[in-house]
Amino acid sequence: MSMMRIVNSQPEPSILITKEEIAVAVRRVAAEVKRDYQGELPLLLGILKGSFMFMADLIRQLDFPLEVDFVRLSSYGSEKESSGKIKIVQGLHSGVKGREVLVIEDIVDTGLTVSFFMNYLRKKKPASLKLCALTNKPSRRQAPVAIDYLGFTVPNRFLVGYGLDFNERFRNLPDICVLEGEG
Ligand code: IMP
Repeated sequence: MSMMRIVNSQPEPSILITKEEIAVAVRRVAAEVKRDYQGELPLLLGILKGSFMFMADLIRQLDFPLEVDFVRLSSYGSEKESSGKIKIVQGLHSGVKGREVLVIEDIVDTGLTVSFFMNYLRKKKPASLKLCALTNKPSRRQAPVAIDYLGFTVPNRFLVGYGLDFNERFRNLPDICVLEGEG
């Protein structure tokens, strides 16, 4: 069975950004990160679960010393919406104070999740704090977010694949897709 054929009458994903286009963007973002952080021993802090694939590809392009950690945040929203009430369900294992911290996010949609987390980190007094996002959906912004390194600006569609999920499915798709029939 083809990987793209979905059973149980789930919506069908169709490709928006190909894996080749993703690879080009990851190389470009990695070059920017390398230019700014080489020699600094940065802490790359991924927001789970969606950033895991981007993080894995990005750090393989970064051939200098760095550290990696992950946090898991949860928002009390519906499947597709962030409610703005966010809590940290799996916290930091690394010290942030005095570190060069680069947050890695899959998608900035309303901005509520990442703005909450950046404010939380800022209070821990890192030496610097920046944001790297694979995708940005600016049309939906509710909280202001400065994105320092960006893969793609995307339309206001629900995206899956390359780490992004709908109901925990489709994270394994190698391309970034939209769900057909989505509202
Ligand atoms: P925000 O707080 O609205 O910016 O949402 C951020 C989080 O919502 C992301 O880290 C994703 O987990 C999830 N999210 C937002 N838009 C999408 C999407 O189009 N596809 C999959 N997940 C999404």
